[in-house]
Amino acid sequence: MEPPTSPSYLPSYHPTELRRSTSNTSASDTASDESIMNTNEEATLCKLDAVRLGYWDDPFLSQMIHGTLRHERKAPDMYKGYYARVKCVERLVLNFIQTIKTSKGVEASVQIVNLGAGYDTLYWRLKSNAALNNAVKIKVVDLDLLPVISKKSHAIRTHKKLCDLLTGEVRDGEIPHAELHSEGYDLVSADMRDTDEISRKLVSACKLDPNIPTLFIAECVLIYMSTDSTKKLLTWIAQTFRTCAFINYEQVRMNDHFGEIMFEALKAQGCLLADADACETLEMHENRFVRAGWTRAQAGDMNTMCQSLPQTDIQRVDRIAMIDEPEVLQQLFAHYCIVWAYKGADSTGLGNIQLL
Ligand SMILES: C[S@@+](CC[C@H](N)C(=O)[O-])C[C@H]1O[C@@H](n2cnc3c(N)ncnc32)[C@H](O)[C@@H]1O
Repeated sequence: MEPPTSPSYLPSYHPTELRRSTSNTSASDTASDESIMNTNEEATLCKLDAVRLGYWDDPFLSQMIHGTLRHERKAPDMYKGYYARVKCVERLVLNFIQTIKTSKGVEASVQIVNLGAGYDTLYWRLKSNAALNNAVKIKVVDLDLLPVISKKSHAIRTHKKLCDLLTGEVRDGEIPHAELHSEGYDLVSADMRDTDEISRKLVSACKLDPNIPTLFIAECVLIYMSTDSTKKLLTWIAQTFRTCAFINYEQVRMNDHFGEIMFEALKAQGCLLADADACETLEMHENRFVRAGWTRAQAGDMNTMCQSLPQTDIQRVDRIAMIDEPEVLQQLFAHYCIVWAYKGADSTGLGNIQLL
């Protein structure tokens, strides 16, 4: 099966100016503000199309993006890909919260850090679930680069639907009008390649408690970083938080024929995957966490991960639009994976959470 060469089949991440590199932060792996914002905005526009077409429900996403932004309609494969990713990540997030609730009872409290969050609406989706919020104290931190944070902050402050779900005193962070802090939600800017800055923002500014079970999420983000920077970040998290888990969504099998054509097609769009060498096999994805001090990591490609979703919902989604070449979709799903990793889970039951 020949991989698709049309960009419409390929994920719309545009990590412009990234290099296959093992060095730490440098001018060569620093994408311009504009290309970074494009990456996030394109991903949000794709998700918004999918939501409007009925793939899943997200009443908050349209508030995040300026109404004048436009992009080309994508092939149904893309929307099914976003659906699978959003639903699989959401299932693991809810599983994490439920597991901590079961082990800690009425005192249950969790922290969730969305790394390279873009315009993701996780906080609002969780907050609007009253049953969940009555049972567990949830704090969410969205972290991204400053240009993205500034726009997200503006959207939150100007849309009542978003603003109304912030609780307690809402105050500016150290970058006024961009960063914000509230009781259950913080929005901060930091470069994930700089662990000193990450530490300052998460521990000092957001006051995350290293003793509270903490879930980190990175969706299509670690590819922006060199192998070395990712290792430093994963090590810092494992050393800082007593009990933590990580959900990573990223490319895999980038070294086979399909993966290489994907890589070249992305490169032709100006998208070089900085850490593609670490994304060759599912085992390499798992080892990346274990080598950084995590207790256990499990990785599954998106064909496998889809088996964890309610099959009735998959059938519903399949009726939204015909997939022209199911084999191509299957190949595409074989080249994306989710990694679930945890550390220090002894008394929490996190070790019982299965990827599938
Ligand atoms: C493809 S978008 C994904 C956004 C979001 N995670 C999602 O799934 O919709 C990648 C995001 O990672 C952010 N990002 C890339 N490199 C980063 C870095 N070094 N530090 C912080 N954020 C970064 C970008 O600004 C962008 O918002």
